[in-house]
Amino acid sequence: MIGKKMEEAMNQQIKHELESAYLYLSMVAYFHSQGLDGMAQWMRAQTQEEIVHAMKFFDHIKERGGRVELLPLAQPKRDWTSPLEAFQEAYQHEQFITSKIDDLVRLAAQEEDHPAGILLQWFVSEQVEEESSTSQVVQMLERIGDSGHGLIMLDRELGARTFNPPPAAEE
Ligand SMILES: [Fe+2]
Ligand SMILES: [Fe+2]
Repeated sequence: MIGKKMEEAMNQQIKHELESAYLYLSMVAYFHSQGLDGMAQWMRAQTQEEIVHAMKFFDHIKERGGRVELLPLAQPKRDWTSPLEAFQEAYQHEQFITSKIDDLVRLAAQEEDHPAGILLQWFVSEQVEEESSTSQVVQMLERIGDSGHGLIMLDRELGARTFNPPPAAEE
């Protein structure tokens, strides 16, 4: 059985993950509006991954006899001044999510909640990747600067990203 404190904290984390999905989906719309369909595709895959993250916490609460509570989501920003600004925000957002995962790791240790600790180890590694992938795009965009040609090349490259759904969870 999951403890009340952990249940509450994971319900908050479901909200953070879904707000990540919401933010990235807003970026999908922004990139399409700029004719950058490759970047939109990249962010679409990112959005789907965030929903998978939310569902991992959802299922963990459910499997341990807790109650999932869906909290209201904040409306995401609609416009950015450049692709660089959008990816910078994605990178900053991932750093914020990492801090939230770190808080959960601390809580799991305090509560001696070992099942939560195991689940959270996966998220610790995942956040290393999330920060790395978004900061890499930021670096490339910084290098490209005002080159329209560079932007088109990067857009094409990022458009190759696909979303691989996780294998169906065993019941
Ligand atoms: Fe996430
Ligand atoms: Fe993420």
